[in-house]
Amino acid sequence: MTATDTLPALPTWETTPEDLPAAIRTVKAALRERIAASGRSVDEVVAELESRLRAEVADVVATRERGEEVWPVLDYDDIAAGRVTDDQLAHLKRRGCLVVRGHFDRDRAEQWDRDIVDYVESNDFFATYRGPGDDFFGSVGSTPEIYPVYWSPAQMEARQSPRMATVQSFLNHRWTFESDGTQWFDPDRDTLYPDRIRRRPEGADSGGLGAHLDPGTLDLWMTSGYQAAFDALFRGDVGDHDPWDASHRTAAAQYPGSTMCSAFRTFQGWTALSEMRNDQGVLHTIPIPEVFAYLLLRPLCSDVPDDEMCGVWTNQAFPVTAEWHEWLLPAQSPIPDVAPGDSVWWHCDMVHAVAPVTDQQGWGNVMYIPAAPWCAKNDRYVATVREAFAAGTSPGDFPKEDYEADWANRFTAADLNDIGRAGLGLDG
Ligand SMILES: [Fe+2]
Repeated sequence: MTATDTLPALPTWETTPEDLPAAIRTVKAALRERIAASGRSVDEVVAELESRLRAEVADVVATRERGEEVWPVLDYDDIAAGRVTDDQLAHLKRRGCLVVRGHFDRDRAEQWDRDIVDYVESNDFFATYRGPGDDFFGSVGSTPEIYPVYWSPAQMEARQSPRMATVQSFLNHRWTFESDGTQWFDPDRDTLYPDRIRRRPEGADSGGLGAHLDPGTLDLWMTSGYQAAFDALFRGDVGDHDPWDASHRTAAAQYPGSTMCSAFRTFQGWTALSEMRNDQGVLHTIPIPEVFAYLLLRPLCSDVPDDEMCGVWTNQAFPVTAEWHEWLLPAQSPIPDVAPGDSVWWHCDMVHAVAPVTDQQGWGNVMYIPAAPWCAKNDRYVATVREAFAAGTSPGDFPKEDYEADWANRFTAADLNDIGRAGLGLDG
């Protein structure tokens, strides 16, 4: 019998509870009781974690104030040649984010950017655009900033490129993917996760996106899979929690919602298609993976009302706000300046935001391509991706806009290479 077996069982809801406030009260009481069984109260556990994290926040702020780069940066050639040092790997795991310089040749990335423009213009996209299909990224009137375009040859070439597979494998290997005789994912084979593109023009004003997380909402506390994944935290044993352990993550049920990602991603990511200066409305992270543990435990503290989860609710992004987490926000750190062909990555549980910008200098163009290693969860989702690919429709996680269904020049099955076929689950 393990220590866990003697603890009070947790209530679970594998689908969204009908009475959310009641479920929140129930699960919070059970989690608090379970943590108290460790001999320490939730408030004591969180206070210890907070003091460690405050030191990390101070280190990030001091690094930035010295004018040093907070984000780890690696050259693609060093990743491909296996020349990344132990110190660089440790830095990557401490900060949880990475810029890969020269992931693709600059010329190739700039050609992709032009190809995307040709692709949408040849299909009269701007004349037929109906406005944002969701309100998460919606902005700037009728001119899209996020293009709901998934199947351009440029995007698919990047997704199935051996250079993309090399970096995804490198990133997946930062995680523990086997435990107790179970392989939770295959680090050397990615699942195709088609996402949109962003083309933010020169002169744009953009309100940005507030600090948030993407791995889930109330399901993070309420489904059996996530409760198992975060078992150490929910026993009050913060020191035993490893942000890089995928155990149970790839089997956890999630509650549906317009901001849900159905795939397990080790890292979220995008590839730059234009120059971007780091003061022009770019991505920021709180580059401390352990902050996630704090965000999961903080709502259980005694100063939070019983039916309140520090602003987390279903069907909207997990917010990180001054109301509950003000001391964390100074750690928000922008990416370095990037060039076309560089790629940007951040741990899937890390807090991130997009800064606002007024009269943006230069373009802000990216293709969203994450690292989503093959696992049972991603295998289920990719079955729907295959159908969307064949029909040219929007993938299941995105609004059903389906602009490309009758675009003749989209990427086709005949254009897939071995990586693309494997990523779609078409081989074996
Ligand atoms: Fe996000």
